[in-house]
Amino acid sequence: MSSPNNSSPWKLEWSDDLSVSIPEIDAEHQHFIQLVNALNEAIVARMEVRAIQQRMQAILEDATAHFAHEETLFKEWNYPDAEQHAQRHAEVLQALHEIMHGFDKNGLDYEWIEAGLQVKQALIEHMLAEDMKYRDYCRTLGK
Ligand SMILES: [Fe+2]
Ligand SMILES: [Fe+2]
Repeated sequence: MSSPNNSSPWKLEWSDDLSVSIPEIDAEHQHFIQLVNALNEAIVARMEVRAIQQRMQAILEDATAHFAHEETLFKEWNYPDAEQHAQRHAEVLQALHEIMHGFDKNGLDYEWIEAGLQVKQALIEHMLAEDMKYRDYCRTLGK
């Protein structure tokens, strides 16, 4: 994960390390990364608050749909950690709502940057820590 070799420390890039080996989910995760990058670009370019909020909202909507999709797949797979993973999803969504709520009320530069970093952190950490667990499970199923 990462941004080792480019000029912007904000920009995330997809790498095969992030693949869960399920094409439809990989595509959604890639889209996620694009949305997070779009948010970070808006912050770095100091776009107006409204543009930043719209990008945050797009991430929130995308995350909500993506999480629901994963949870549907867990049922199909009889994934044993489905409940715990769904709990993590709920926590991430809650965190995103709180970040957006906090962001609504203020607009200092460092607060924008902080909000953007928190959004990025919450989503990327989830992908790396939690989604990789079902990747490993699916591999044991030979999926
Ligand atoms: Fe995911
Ligand atoms: Fe997930």
